[in-house]
Amino acid sequence: MKQAGSVGSCPTSASVAETTNFVLPNDTNTLGNLFGGRLLQWLDINSAVSAHRHCKRVVVTIAVNNVSFDRPIKLGDLVTIRSHVSRAFDTSMEVWSDVWVEDQLTGEKIKCNSAIYTFVAVDNTGRPVNVPQVVPGTEEEQKRYDGALRRRQLRLILAGRMKPEEASELKALFDR
Ligand SMILES: CC(C)(COP(=O)(O)OP(=O)(O)OC[C@H]1O[C@@H](n2cnc3c(N)ncnc32)[C@H](O)[C@@H]1OP(=O)(O)O)[C@@H](O)C(=O)NCCC(=O)NCCS
Repeated sequence: MKQAGSVGSCPTSASVAETTNFVLPNDTNTLGNLFGGRLLQWLDINSAVSAHRHCKRVVVTIAVNNVSFDRPIKLGDLVTIRSHVSRAFDTSMEVWSDVWVEDQLTGEKIKCNSAIYTFVAVDNTGRPVNVPQVVPGTEEEQKRYDGALRRRQLRLILAGRMKPEEASELKALFDR
């Protein structure tokens, strides 16, 4: 059961987390490309740092929602992950991550993946606790914030936690 009470708000920028990793032999599959599970692990950790920065509580992953692997990442590449909390609800937070790969010779950074994870803030006993709301700053942060309610409704329907007829934001998409 959730604990009651609102806990203020934080700008999106307060939750930004960025890490860079070298792709080492132990991170690759038999083709010499980054193994998908390793990228999911890096995304999970970087996203958790963002969620923690936003709410300053222990956070647990409740769902991995969207991950796309648009192009292979090679052994020796530098992989940068940048995450931020795109929107907070009562106890849950949607975290958006973008992934760039740096060319080994030119240093050019190419965006190659994005991912959305959902975290829940919990107390010492593992009970969900309320989190601050997000205040978007840039145009892109606002766009991601606006879309988060729709994505949440879709997630909750798929998880059997919401009836499709209650998903007002999703329904509005089709009524346009
Ligand atoms: C996180 C946890 C404490 C939540 O417990 P719960 O009984 O589901 O709690 P609630 O029903 O109050 O839901 C908590 C929040 O999660 C959200 N949620 C639940 N299931 C969800 C799903 N499948 N997708 C997205 N959000 C979900 C709810 O909407 C709620 O968010 P809100 O408060 O912002 O509205 C519990 O599910 C848990 O411990 N899960 C395991 C977490 C873990 O071990 N992660 C690592 C996996 S390896």
